[in-house]
Amino acid sequence: MHPLADLPRPWRRPRRLRKNAVIRGLVRETRLTPDRLVLPLFVIGGENVSQPIGSMPGHARLSPDRVVAKCQEALNLGVGAFALFPAVAPELKTADATEAVNPRNLLCRAVRTLKEALPEAYVITDIALDPYSSMGHDGLVADGVIVNDATVDVLAEMAVVHADAGADMVAPSDMMDGRVAAIRTALDEAGATDVAILSYTAKYASGFYGPFREALDSAPVDSDGVPKDKKTYQMDPANAREASVEALLDEEEGADVLMVKPALPYLDVIRRLRMVTELPVAAYHVSGEYAMLKAAAEKGWLDERTCMTEALVSIARAGADVIFTYAALEYARWWKDVVG
Ligand code: PBG
Repeated sequence: MHPLADLPRPWRRPRRLRKNAVIRGLVRETRLTPDRLVLPLFVIGGENVSQPIGSMPGHARLSPDRVVAKCQEALNLGVGAFALFPAVAPELKTADATEAVNPRNLLCRAVRTLKEALPEAYVITDIALDPYSSMGHDGLVADGVIVNDATVDVLAEMAVVHADAGADMVAPSDMMDGRVAAIRTALDEAGATDVAILSYTAKYASGFYGPFREALDSAPVDSDGVPKDKKTYQMDPANAREASVEALLDEEEGADVLMVKPALPYLDVIRRLRMVTELPVAAYHVSGEYAMLKAAAEKGWLDERTCMTEALVSIARAGADVIFTYAALEYARWWKDVVG
């Protein structure tokens, strides 16, 4: 006879709290409402343009008027924040990325159009040079090196230009050292004291950005003197303690929100930042994470709703307050379905 077979039946039975949907709802620990989601959108020049992105089903490069329509749809579903990324025309990309600080560039035009049409839309702009750089790097390149301090000067100027266009929040995604302090100083000097900074604090040199780089045609170019990857500025996927170092610096420098990116492969880092800061923590469920689920669902290998919801809820459970996800609209529709 098994030595435990004689013991009384268990009196602790966790299954009692899983008996039906009502009790499961009562004891649910994490509830991810659509008002915690940020929808990233890709902007392209022109009018009434919607250019589908092959590796991101459901997403397209949208002209500013179409961005407005998409944001209206999102607002109706309870998603009120948007991260805009410009698909800059190839002829405007240069080695010094000066289009980044042109107050009439595509991104600024899109922000103005959006804010004029929908003042209640909360607009987050990306601060990094890659969409404007002919080399596909987030910073200026000299002698095969991504130059830190000269890049930071441009980023600070870029933030002011975005603030002038109407951005509510700027999000430096470049991983240069000292950029948060420089951006905060420049914004304050320009009188943009209300514009918040969401810092990509722990942004890893990840393979999961592939579809995003396809969307913007922004991958590092294959050419002499141009580093092939972003490993000298984005973090090593093997490191977690280093994320705490970055977090303390960003907090000291004046960041309002700290972000971890990508999300699912870095749930431990999300939790770690949750423990080291009292600031809100954001996570970016990136293009490759979205593409994987979409592709498997298209093949009928996974159930999209179940798996996408599970992925997003797990990011919240790990400690993210804010989640950037390309599936924000789908999720908000499913949510409506559940709560009626
Ligand atoms: C670039 C930037 C990237 C993403 C956001 N901002 C790509 C990169 O660093 O190469 C990726 C987002 C995604 O994959 O969804 N500054």
